[in-house]
Amino acid sequence: MRLTVGEGEVVALVGPSGAGKTTLLNVLNLSLGLSGGRLELFGQAVGERRRLQRLIGTVYQRFELVPSLRVIHNLNAGRLAEWPAWKAFWSLLYPLGVREARRVLERVGMGEKLFERTDRLSGGQLQRVAIARMLLQDPRLILADEPVASLDPVLGREVLGLLRAIALEGGRGLVVSLHDVGLARGFCDRMVGVKGGEVMFNLPIDAVGDDLLGRLYEV
Ligand SMILES: Nc1ncnc2c1ncn2[C@@H]1O[C@H](COP(=O)(O)OP(=O)(O)O)[C@@H](O)[C@H]1O
Ligand SMILES: [Mg+2]
Repeated sequence: MRLTVGEGEVVALVGPSGAGKTTLLNVLNLSLGLSGGRLELFGQAVGERRRLQRLIGTVYQRFELVPSLRVIHNLNAGRLAEWPAWKAFWSLLYPLGVREARRVLERVGMGEKLFERTDRLSGGQLQRVAIARMLLQDPRLILADEPVASLDPVLGREVLGLLRAIALEGGRGLVVSLHDVGLARGFCDRMVGVKGGEVMFNLPIDAVGDDLLGRLYEV
């Protein structure tokens, strides 16, 4: 089945555990190769991986931040790939890129936490920092693997609202895997149901009925 994600389009990936959601996201961010089928990114067959990887930002359920570092260093970690080694090393002693880091942190509502130790932050704040790090990369495509599964429902909705707003304002595509179908309905334009390693449906959000969801999750 053909799957496309447009600019500024928000797509939910839903399906039972083990269905292949994470696998699909890992294929999309080029950390996993294809065993079959075809992948095009930004209108072209996948060529030079490193250049493309910089255009894809990913956020994860467990945030993937280093707790013992200050927020600024976790943000800069998103740029190590583009910085030469001396700059990356120097930045650990004397943070560079403070202005840009503050700008993305302000965008996620945490401007005052730039020099806070990361392990002092709450779960919702941690995911905001991870989103800010992703923003610093200025990706064209955003992937999010269960980004709210470690958060309570209120924080989860806030984080999804933020991800959606960031996708829309930048004309970026967003593919987000979600456990909670209600959240997918509330924040996404399209829903892709994955089961047993295959795409079972790919529909506008309003076209996904309870019967279809029932079949997606039945064993
Ligand atoms: N299309 C696929 N082809 C081959 N293996 C797959 C495919 N989709 C999923 N798998 C395998 O299924 C397992 C669980 O997939 P995963 O992506 O972690 O599921 P989910 O994130 O939906 O819980 C993994 O070991 C993965 O290698
Ligand atoms: Mg998964």
